[in-house]
Amino acid sequence: MKLSSEIMRLIKAARLARQSAYCPYSRYPVGAAVLTESGRIFSGCNVENASYGLSICAERAAVFNAVAGRQIVIKAVCIAAISPKPCGACRQVLFEFSTRHTAIYLVDENLDTRRPRVTRGAVYKMLPAPFDPLACGLLKDKKR
Ligand code: THU
Repeated sequence: MKLSSEIMRLIKAARLARQSAYCPYSRYPVGAAVLTESGRIFSGCNVENASYGLSICAERAAVFNAVAGRQIVIKAVCIAAISPKPCGACRQVLFEFSTRHTAIYLVDENLDTRRPRVTRGAVYKMLPAPFDPLACGLLKDKKR
């Protein structure tokens, strides 16, 4: 797969964020990064807690970081982990800020971590029958 320099930067950001993961309970570090409409990159890692249910996934940390930076349209998202797959909650959160063109890059840290396996997909295809704020009339458009 041929990757643009922008996507290469996105992948680097997700892999770097993974190194910041706070996961003493699961020992499963995850890094995520989102590329927004403006061309900026925001990253996040999973942050766990002794009260397990308070933990947050890397994907949501990255998305919330983008929103705090006033970026609400995601062009691409990258997740770096061993056999990465966003959980259902994160798919719904990614859907909120994605378009039909938003790409998702999954970086599998399984094998040789210097050259991980990268697969590409589409965010909207990862969440069949989403709870869609436009379809149910909660939002008129996604430009807030
Ligand atoms: N986790 C993520 O950060 N992203 C995912 O897509 C799946 C799970 C985290 C949550 C928890 O800290 C650890 O991975 C094990 O579930």
